[in-house]
Amino acid sequence: MRKDLILIASVDRNWGIGKENELLKPIPEDLKRFAKLTRGNLIIVGRKTLETFPNKKPLPDRVNIVLTRNESYYCEGAVVVHDLDSLFSAIKDYAGTIYVCGGESVYRQLLPYCSKAFITRIDESYDADKHLENLDESPDWVLTGQGQWQESKASVLFRYDEFDRKS
Ligand SMILES: NC(=O)c1ccc[n+]([C@@H]2O[C@H](COP(=O)([O-])OP(=O)(O)OC[C@H]3O[C@@H](n4cnc5c(N)ncnc54)[C@H](OP(=O)(O)O)[C@@H]3O)[C@@H](O)[C@H]2O)c1
Repeated sequence: MRKDLILIASVDRNWGIGKENELLKPIPEDLKRFAKLTRGNLIIVGRKTLETFPNKKPLPDRVNIVLTRNESYYCEGAVVVHDLDSLFSAIKDYAGTIYVCGGESVYRQLLPYCSKAFITRIDESYDADKHLENLDESPDWVLTGQGQWQESKASVLFRYDEFDRKS
């Protein structure tokens, strides 16, 4: 079972990631960076997150793997898997970079298989109903890169941090 996946997420001050199946605050600069990093690679998403994408379609120019327990779920252009065993079979021989892209349930289940986390911090506290584990307080993770605060076109401060799993 591989343990080299990369988690990528945007979080607020409380590690909130979403509310009512939407992002807390879409940051255009971060969405561009997300596209640049993941393009040409492989992303893993839960069915609910896939349905937040434009037209509820997989993102172009990358392999999209969607997790759902619904055996009759069909999504053109995505690889559909129904459990973690099938997910790990599907990615076993993948040579590119594999990004774990949420949402909450997928982050929770796949965090133990991630070696790195790209976290976009948003310097706000929102009313969130979905969260990521707080990596600042986790004994398993260490902050290895801390970006500068930047002002987004969306009128919030954000920065890019990087965490590594402790060996
Ligand atoms: N801030 C960020 O970076 C970020 C990134 C992504 C998402 N989000 C936010 O996160 C929220 C969505 O998170 P969520 O936890 O509600 O949904 P989710 O993780 O995107 O999707 C949950 C669904 O995935 C399927 N699933 C999960 N684990 C599975 C497993 N082991 N086997 C088979 N299927 C499995 C199930 O689909 P079925 O119900 O079809 O069986 C489940 O209902 C939204 O608010 C979204 O905007 C935030």
